[in-house]
Amino acid sequence: MTESLLRVDDLEVAYPGRGMRAEPTRILHGVSLDIRPGETVGLVGESGSGKTTLGRAILGLAPVTGGTVTYRGEDISHPTRQRRRELTRDIQVVFQDPYTSMNPNLTIEQTLTEPLRVNGTKGSEARDRVASLLEAVHMPVDSMTRFPNEFSGGQRQRIAIARALALDPALIVCDEPVSALDLSNQRRVLDLFIEIQERTGVAYLFVSHDLAVVRHLSHRVAVLYRGEIVEWGDCDQVTARPEHPYTQRLLMAAPVPHPVRQAKHRADRQRVLAAQREADLQSGAA
Ligand SMILES: Nc1ncnc2c1ncn2[C@@H]1O[C@H](COP(=O)(O)OP(=O)(O)OP(=O)(O)O)[C@@H](O)[C@H]1O
Ligand SMILES: [Mg+2]
Repeated sequence: MTESLLRVDDLEVAYPGRGMRAEPTRILHGVSLDIRPGETVGLVGESGSGKTTLGRAILGLAPVTGGTVTYRGEDISHPTRQRRRELTRDIQVVFQDPYTSMNPNLTIEQTLTEPLRVNGTKGSEARDRVASLLEAVHMPVDSMTRFPNEFSGGQRQRIAIARALALDPALIVCDEPVSALDLSNQRRVLDLFIEIQERTGVAYLFVSHDLAVVRHLSHRVAVLYRGEIVEWGDCDQVTARPEHPYTQRLLMAAPVPHPVRQAKHRADRQRVLAAQREADLQSGAA
């Protein structure tokens, strides 16, 4: 069995209550899951179920009041500031709204160069890296000199993905990254996520309220309901034969557009992942 890249064990997140004697508000309780290298774990659930909070806890942005988050065997539930900064190399994020997640005053080149500074990458080396990042997300290299407002939502989301990839992270928390896009752009950006994963071996925690989206690219799926995981397992298992009534309801709201194509697609994805694991094991053994 492949070692987990990231584990969440019995996680509890609670925000302090307002006022002197107010009880803390528990948002997540008893949440456990793991993400393997190169894997996509889909996280679905209705609005307010705690999906963003779980992503934020992994990124160190939500108050962990119980349980642990472990990255490559290291407890990162309460890291120092310094360690948190270092971890941004390994764990990146793509947000839902491509309009607010980018500084409008920076050119695309500046936006993409910024994370590279962490590595001390400068000058022509940085320029080359920015060009290859843009290429990786199928954006023309002449986008470099332009500003975010000169691009569509779909294009901005590609740039946000390029920014997340800049430091070769092992994991990207994707919080509803296609929810603000129209259907045809959704599909293209989802396929881009898949393509990048197949090439780089990056893992995703892929958050969405839309089971159809999650089903398109996840290897395993967790269903969050009122701050607890009510279903967790292989994508096919969870999305085709859900056990929990809440998941069954979600599923009814998300019909499969092309059942045969989707099944083939998933089978292909599983093969790619198995091959990657095999390669990991071999390189680990060497
Ligand atoms: N900073 C905060 N302080 C207090 N409560 C918060 C805070 N952030 C989130 N919450 C509460 O935590 C709960 C879960 O919110 P969260 O944003 O994780 O849900 P979500 O599943 O991502 O929903 P959506 O699909 O609408 O994005 C909500 O009830 C929200 O009000
Ligand atoms: Mg959210």
